[in-house]
Amino acid sequence: MNAYFPPIDPLKLEAAWKAADTLAKSCRGSSPLSPRPSEPDGEAPLTIDAAGLRVDFARQQIPPHAQSALHALAEAAALANWRDAMLRGETVNASEGRAALHTALRDPNGELTDDLPESVRHTVRQTLARMRTISDQVRSGVWRGASGRPISDVLHLGIGGSQLGPELACDALHRFSHPRLRNHFLGNIDPDRWHRVSRDLNPHTTLIIIASKSWRTPETARNAQAARQWLLDAGIAEGLLGRHLVAVSSNLEAAQSLGVLPENILACPDWVGGRYSLWGAVGLPIMMQVGPEAFDAMLAGARSMDSHFARAPVSGNAPMQLALTSAWNAARLGSGTEAVIPYSDALRRLPAHLQQLQMESNGKSVNARGEPLSRATMPVVWGEPGTDSQHSFFQALHQGVAIHPIDLIMVGGVSDTDPWLRSRVLNANAVAQAQALSNGYEHADPQRRHPGGRPVTIIHLPQLNPATLGALIALYEHKTVCLGWLWGVNPFDQWGVELGKRLAVNVEALMTASTDQVAPPEAVAELTLDPATESTLRYLKSL
Ligand code: F6P
Repeated sequence: MNAYFPPIDPLKLEAAWKAADTLAKSCRGSSPLSPRPSEPDGEAPLTIDAAGLRVDFARQQIPPHAQSALHALAEAAALANWRDAMLRGETVNASEGRAALHTALRDPNGELTDDLPESVRHTVRQTLARMRTISDQVRSGVWRGASGRPISDVLHLGIGGSQLGPELACDALHRFSHPRLRNHFLGNIDPDRWHRVSRDLNPHTTLIIIASKSWRTPETARNAQAARQWLLDAGIAEGLLGRHLVAVSSNLEAAQSLGVLPENILACPDWVGGRYSLWGAVGLPIMMQVGPEAFDAMLAGARSMDSHFARAPVSGNAPMQLALTSAWNAARLGSGTEAVIPYSDALRRLPAHLQQLQMESNGKSVNARGEPLSRATMPVVWGEPGTDSQHSFFQALHQGVAIHPIDLIMVGGVSDTDPWLRSRVLNANAVAQAQALSNGYEHADPQRRHPGGRPVTIIHLPQLNPATLGALIALYEHKTVCLGWLWGVNPFDQWGVELGKRLAVNVEALMTASTDQVAPPEAVAELTLDPATESTLRYLKSL
């Protein structure tokens, strides 16, 4: 299918951006806005309730007339057209000629849209059924290792989108864990990581999930070989390795060559990008940990956010408003970063997932047609949980020169079952920090003055469960693609990750070349060897 591009008038889009940029620059001052009028007529609501979450923009520094400019920008950038095209499976990933149907993964029965081909629905239902079969066998104890014992530990080998999403979900839903099963995640190729993870594992009761959509990721390939040898070294016969191996990939024959039984290889469709894929086969460790029913609840929460995204007008559309707010702050502040601060330790892996989701989607400098962009695109996404971060980088957020926009994630209300009321104190801190960042604090002593005017969005989950987690992650997936469409980039490809991988092959070959030989062997001299790299290699070889 030909790549999809909505009907966009470039002159109208440029004019909309120019208007928004001009306004943004005129609002550069960091002085806190006087308390904003509540819900000025016709403007975006200060808070949006969507899929069980509350997104509170009241502390954002976007004056009413700027809201109108941003809505005009959303219209000129054809956000709604892009959205509808993505949901119905158009080829929205132009450079790879693919659809982006992560929303189909969480809509197996076509409740969101009946636009999709039955083949897609069938693939989704079949994968969920196979995930359920494996999960049920492992959780019930029916699945036995080579020595006849049930599985106690699930070791998930994968990196990037094949790790961060499932790892976030398993961490966030730790209270929903199966009593016998523990999850472990290994992405890095650093053997130190392998030693730290494997030392607590018994090969005879460990199930290894090898997740690699491409099966061309060197880290996962080597870690899989090491894990396979670890099983063999424990005395597990080669013919019984299949009792300890499951694969998630689109390269089925490669997985089988490792010893994975065909019935334990789950396919990844090419119409889902890695960083958007935890809802399907890559999410197997989540389903193993929380069970199929809770996994379905997570899908339902995401589907509910999808429904909101598909139907809400831009002024009341939470993902679109998050994207417009990000674009506004990037243009206005030019800080080059945006922070995600979860006031929930269970969401401590959320920043890492959102880093890949947003920076791998939108960290680009040409648009989907290959034309250079004239404006900054994705800020650096970073963050750590509160209240820890109040004791590390909040000083800079409060009194630094650069102003960093913040998404603050909160869970729960004021009631607290903790004997020491620690949850209530956690939330009191979250609200107080938002107040201080936003309103500032005048003081005669300049050292003690808080300028305020730091833009904060609070995203509130009444409780953290599979449904609200699904809604939260889907919220950010839709924010991410809307932000990419505003800037004109393709949020679904990631060509920038290829060069480093190729060069690493060259460098490794040079490292293994004979000691004094640094001139690149012809076979690997893809790029001329620069002096800095040559010097570094000489030093490494001297050690
Ligand atoms: O970081 C580059 C990348 O291709 C990501 O997009 C992807 O999620 C990750 O590597 C792992 O890829 P695979 O699942 O194919 O091993």
